[in-house]
Amino acid sequence: MTVERVKDRLSAEIGELATISDADPPAVTRVVFTPTDLKARAWLRARCEQAGLAMRQDPIGNLFARWQGSDPDAPAIGTGSHIDAIPNAGKYDGVVGVLGGLEAIRTLQLRGFRPRHSIELLVFTSEEPTRFGVGCLGSRLLSGSLSADAARKLVDRDGNTVEQARRNAGLSGELENVKLPDDYYKAFVELHIEQGPLLEQHKVPVGIVTRIAAPASLRVFFEGAGGHAGAVLMADRKDALCAAAELILTIEDSARNSGAPDTVATVGMCDIFPGAVNSIPSRVQLSVDIRDTNLSRRDALLHALGNACDAIQAKRRVAIRQELLNADAPAECAPAIVEALSKACRKLRLPSLPMVSRAYHDSLFMSRIAHVAMLFIPCRNGYSHRPDEYASPEDIANGTLVLAETLAALSA
Ligand code: GLV
Ligand code: MN
Ligand code: MN
Repeated sequence: MTVERVKDRLSAEIGELATISDADPPAVTRVVFTPTDLKARAWLRARCEQAGLAMRQDPIGNLFARWQGSDPDAPAIGTGSHIDAIPNAGKYDGVVGVLGGLEAIRTLQLRGFRPRHSIELLVFTSEEPTRFGVGCLGSRLLSGSLSADAARKLVDRDGNTVEQARRNAGLSGELENVKLPDDYYKAFVELHIEQGPLLEQHKVPVGIVTRIAAPASLRVFFEGAGGHAGAVLMADRKDALCAAAELILTIEDSARNSGAPDTVATVGMCDIFPGAVNSIPSRVQLSVDIRDTNLSRRDALLHALGNACDAIQAKRRVAIRQELLNADAPAECAPAIVEALSKACRKLRLPSLPMVSRAYHDSLFMSRIAHVAMLFIPCRNGYSHRPDEYASPEDIANGTLVLAETLAALSA
């Protein structure tokens, strides 16, 4: 029976891919262009080739696996997601959309379906911002949301540029050639775990995304004065970490008091220099991640952050500099694809819930050049970006079959 086959194969493949990781199980860590990421890509490529898909990789490493349609000139139907994973992540974020997309294609092949529009599985490079600070590197370039010049110059913590890292990963060609023409895809559909608790709470197996929230991220640099932890009196200090701490709490406060529960803000990284127990921190770098479903409310928080930097700098005599990495608009999903997803759910007798995606996804950027929509499946307790992230084989199989129906309808 189809559901059982899909369940078994996907569980086995998700488990196998999770073993290609730089963390001890059950955690998964797979950072872009590391040897582990390259090994995972090779593993995936072999699976796509076994399915008879034609492979191509672009200069940033986005992988395209195409099932050729009977009308090769018609725009393709795209699906896919990412296989990079943040440090200490789980097995399912991104992977369900990639292996589920491949399984949807294999399911249609087994049924003897013949697409008119080609169906293409897309595996995006570096959806996660772990290494270069900016998420969705591959889809930003594909959609022209980030210029080749700006992408080349992004640096990791060790000072390696994207340009060096991709060349070391064996990628050639110019980043200028990554952008896809606006008529390349007729539609793009991404399957993903919800990363929130709503589907589980409502006991609904499928979420149909209508909107993706607007993300922004920054780095904030603090420069004060170091010194001896015993000898420098409190009145004489310019402690960069104390200034950073004040900013962190101000950001939290502004997000909590934005007037809407949709505003979220996170400081997830804090680098302290020199980082010694008996030394006053002289330099600190913070990462700030701010999101909202409403663009002007998100921008108001960015503005409040700027004002807080000015006030803390004056009060504490610590120099503060902000570097805006991205501030993206939200995306609306295309009504026709949303309807195709609803129809597929009805056909499979699966209840569905309309939802907003608070996480960003490559679909946010694909929406700049194509009609997009997303479908979510439940994940236990809404956990994601942690090792105990879990989606049941049954929910994954259901999502995959909804995706297969949708791809079939869109590609006919
Ligand atoms: C994607 O991983 C996100 O942070 O929303
Ligand atoms: Mn993620
Ligand atoms: Mn993801």
